Amino acid sequence: MARSKSSARWLKEHVSDPFVKQAQKDGYRSRASYKLLALNEKDKLIRPGMLVIDLGSAPGGWSQIASQLVGEKGKVIASDILPMDALPDVDFIQGDFTEESVFDEIMTVIDERPVDVVISDMAPNLSGVAAADQAGSIYLIELALDMAQQVLKPKGSFVAKAFQGEGYEAFVKQVREHFDTVLIRKPEASRARSREVYVVGKGFKG
Ligand SMILES: C[S@@+](CC[C@H](N)C(=O)[O-])C[C@H]1O[C@@H](n2cnc3c(N)ncnc32)[C@H](O)[C@@H]1O
Repeated sequence: MARSKSSARWLKEHVSDPFVKQAQKDGYRSRASYKLLALNEKDKLIRPGMLVIDLGSAPGGWSQIASQLVGEKGKVIASDILPMDALPDVDFIQGDFTEESVFDEIMTVIDERPVDVVISDMAPNLSGVAAADQAGSIYLIELALDMAQQVLKPKGSFVAKAFQGEGYEAFVKQVREHFDTVLIRKPEASRARSREVYVVGKGFKG
């Protein structure tokens, strides 16, 4: 019962959501595109010619924005557990990021090129058990941070979707250890009632 009520609320919110309508007009695959646009406008993360890794990329809203921002001379490498329709100039690897083989496959595609920005919008499918969902989300962003540490060039940037709750403060502390500047952002397109925020690390210490 509670579940069908919340599904109905989600559907109602979704159809009247201005970012959903705008995404349809602008040809973006998800309303999430406006979150990355806002983060980039504020923090100047992605520029032409850069190499960007997009984790949790499906259906492709962030990859579309990242690909536009890096332009012809740049590259986006995207990955998700779900399939994603092809996008020009985006290399896609499908698989579960918690599996070492997927991590290794992404590393192979990167091929030791220095990466400018790692962005992660990964969020686990909700089980309904809040503590397990929070733990799952923290695990994913810790893995994203681990990849960032291995591939980023000095002064590179990192963005991760995080949910405030158990493990969040410890995660932010870890990001602070590796980046000169850490900012916590809540773009307008992020729903106010969600505990979702974006942790932005700038100036990778290497
Ligand atoms: C909020 S959506 C991403 C939206 C995307 N940034 C966009 O702009 O279209 C979160 C994504 O994380 C992915 N995800 C969840 N668990 C994952 C895992 N273990 N490995 C890889 N991707 C995962 C989901 O499949 C989902 O596509």
